Amino acid sequence: MVSVAILGAAGGIGQPLSLLMKLNTSITKLNLYDIVNVPGVAADISHIATNAEVKAFLGPTQLADAVTNVDLAIIPAGVPRKPGMTRDDLFKINAGIVKSLVEAIAENSPKAIIAIISNPVNSTVPIAAEILKAKGVYDPKRLFGVTTLDVVRASRFVRDIRPELDATTLRVPVVGGHSGNTIVPLLSIASSPIKLSTEERDALTHRIQFGGDEVVKAKDGAGSATLSMAYAGARFADSIIRALGGESVVEPTFIPLAADPEGAKQIRELGAGDLEFFAVTVELGKEGVKSIVQLPTSNLTGFELKAIAVAAEALTTNISTGVNFVKNA
Ligand code: NAD
Ligand code: LMR
Repeated sequence: MVSVAILGAAGGIGQPLSLLMKLNTSITKLNLYDIVNVPGVAADISHIATNAEVKAFLGPTQLADAVTNVDLAIIPAGVPRKPGMTRDDLFKINAGIVKSLVEAIAENSPKAIIAIISNPVNSTVPIAAEILKAKGVYDPKRLFGVTTLDVVRASRFVRDIRPELDATTLRVPVVGGHSGNTIVPLLSIASSPIKLSTEERDALTHRIQFGGDEVVKAKDGAGSATLSMAYAGARFADSIIRALGGESVVEPTFIPLAADPEGAKQIRELGAGDLEFFAVTVELGKEGVKSIVQLPTSNLTGFELKAIAVAAEALTTNISTGVNFVKNA
């Protein structure tokens, strides 16, 4: 019995994500919200023979109803990149969108788990935290930035150069954030050993960090990753839902480190310093974050530790941009 709302459900990510969520048999209620086109998307998806009840919610006057009594709210609303843009260039428009959506969730489902896809994730998650604090309902265990696509890409890109490995089971921890050099793949502690020359390591790391740009370039002005993102978003949502049902599930995600201050000590010592948010691997439970998974740190390379320090520096700015947006509003 899980109720899910998708905000931005008629978009490039929203539509395939809504489809995949309709196929998730644990979901009993699926609320689809957008400011355009959502009645058609919901009518279409509602014909699929699974048990979830699908409802459309169109425009700001229906937002409160869309997010009332939901367990999980997933936010892919907002503009995507065009060639030549960075994710930070999306801030101007997406910051306000995320702010208004999180306000509505805080007011109508204060205990909902919130999963933010809208970019720049490094700043939109801090925006959400500030809104939830202002509304008096902040629980750092229940707020997530979705970085699953980074680990999905890492598994697939490794297989591109090591075809003997299975992309479906290989896990590469990715820490930091979700943009360029804030994305730090820890290839040395992947679930299967990967022997790489220095050139291969550099090229693979760069490809994982800038994988989003490959799609933006190939789409040539028509947006950014939508289908692989819908897959990644559905995988993340399914992990949250299984954890709500009592399973212990492990996922990488960008979270407030206050969700597990004790568990965060390790990543802080590795370079996250006093940052409030960082992407880490977490064990999920019924209340959201159960704990931050500890890494086999003695195996990390100097290259990876340096990359964590570079990520932390960029994240400091990204996080304060988000926090200041709400504080100065
Ligand atoms: P899109 O333009 O195709 O869809 C966005 C949807 O959001 C549209 O249907 C639009 O009507 C809707 N929208 C706009 N304002 C809204 C509001 N106030 N309330 C509700 N809905 C609103 O874009 P897309 O390709 O689906 O990408 C969406 C976002 O996801 C972008 O910011 C993109 O950068 C981001 N993204 C993140 C990741 C990640 O890994 N976290 C991956 C891919 C894309
Ligand atoms: C991605 O990683 O594909 C997304 O963040 C979208 C983008 O702008 O690259």
